[in-house]
Amino acid sequence: MKSILIINGPNLNLLGKREPDIYGNRSFVDYLKSIEPLFPDVQLRYFQSNHEGELLDKIHELGFDIHGIVINAGAYTHTSIALADALSAVTAPAVEVHISNVHARESFRHHSYLSAKCKGVIAGLGLTGYELAIRYLLTL
Ligand code: DQA
Repeated sequence: MKSILIINGPNLNLLGKREPDIYGNRSFVDYLKSIEPLFPDVQLRYFQSNHEGELLDKIHELGFDIHGIVINAGAYTHTSIALADALSAVTAPAVEVHISNVHARESFRHHSYLSAKCKGVIAGLGLTGYELAIRYLLTL
């Protein structure tokens, strides 16, 4: 069975409560439950942390064994060379996801350290971006 790791970074544990006009009013766990039946032959593994080192540790732990990584690193997207290096280090291909259209927001959200290490980027399509990223990874 293929395993896909979904990683959410800082503040994404607050989805549903956090700035709902930008991020919507659904919790990620609720969303994840709703898409699991769409992928009956896939093991979806979910990890969220507000701590950069924990995100690194999870990528190191699973990144050599799983089929692919869907990563929304939250604000670490725009700051973390360490996460970019971790994505380069492991063998699993990654897709970067952002719920909001970061390019339509403040200029500090326009640059991502992760994009160059990922197969592609999905931004602005809400939570649906995660499902689309999984579907793409399963084509690899
Ligand atoms: C985000 C966009 C980031 O700029 C922001 O820091 C987040 C969420 C998104 O999913 O739209 O925390 O990654």
